[in-house]
Amino acid sequence: MKILYIGVQKGGVGKSTNTCQLALYARNLGYRVLVIDFDDQGNTTKFFKRNGEAVPLAKTVTEVIFQTTDIFDINVGVSGFNILEADGQFNNILVEQARVKVQHEGELTEKSSIAHQYFANFLTSVDAHYDLCIIDGPPSLDIRVTIALTLADAVLSPIQLSQESIEGMSSTLYGQRGVLNIKTVFNAKLNFLGFLPNMVEATDKHREALTELGERIGEHFLTDNEGRILLMPLRQAVRECQKEGITIAQLAKTNTMARSTWASMRKIFDIVLARLQLEVDVESTHVETIG
Ligand SMILES: Nc1ncnc2c1ncn2[C@@H]1O[C@H](COP(=O)(O)OP(=O)(O)O)[C@@H](O)[C@H]1O
Ligand SMILES: [Mg+2]
Repeated sequence: MKILYIGVQKGGVGKSTNTCQLALYARNLGYRVLVIDFDDQGNTTKFFKRNGEAVPLAKTVTEVIFQTTDIFDINVGVSGFNILEADGQFNNILVEQARVKVQHEGELTEKSSIAHQYFANFLTSVDAHYDLCIIDGPPSLDIRVTIALTLADAVLSPIQLSQESIEGMSSTLYGQRGVLNIKTVFNAKLNFLGFLPNMVEATDKHREALTELGERIGEHFLTDNEGRILLMPLRQAVRECQKEGITIAQLAKTNTMARSTWASMRKIFDIVLARLQLEVDVESTHVETIG
């Protein structure tokens, strides 16, 4: 099972959108997929309630980080497509109490360490049941980010070309819980796939921001195989699909405007999946093809 963390220290940039749409695309290609919602807002959890294709595990994300879980009691592997749902409690029971020490296996241990350990055990125990696990990150840099980055194989960071978002890129890369730091100190296998500019508009402002970023930190962007920075344009179809709980590929079947949107997104997803090097025999049973 390859673990992809979709995260960046900023909200509203497309983390949940990419999580949901990529999970469904990978599932439709035949991969066994587990989605994990690390954000208390639960936008990904809500999307899959509307969508209905992913079977929720019988425990929520904050339950598996503080309990030993027998995976066969919680639907793991059922239908090859599951979601470990958010329950809105992450902040209350972990983030705000990360340094609180409690008795654990006869020792006083910080809650953050206990959660880290249980979550690592959880991922190990489900490993054989999925090809791909996508973790949707919170819009902050807290203990959840450290836990996810120490255990992930790869990271994708959607961004918007706004000043605020660009400032967040620096902590996403170089902060104490930044990708490069976690890679050096804890997780050498961690592969930063790069920043993905999302909701890009054909304006001078966005063009200039991209040129400037490309010159300064171009090597940290998601690029195609020719080294060109990949972009996702601002498209109403994306917002609609997320709201309705459907894929952009589905919408593109009846809506010609959505076709080019899906073409852009699909190109990005194909590159992300290729970089993850999922080594499985995919039975492409119900691939969604768009003309
Ligand atoms: N490329 C896009 N074009 C138009 N709207 C988008 C695009 N990507 C995301 N959105 C919309 O932007 C909003 C924020 O996206 P979301 O994925 O929830 O962000 P995050 O998870 O980073 O907070 C959502 O309403 C979503 O539908
Ligand atoms: Mg989100």
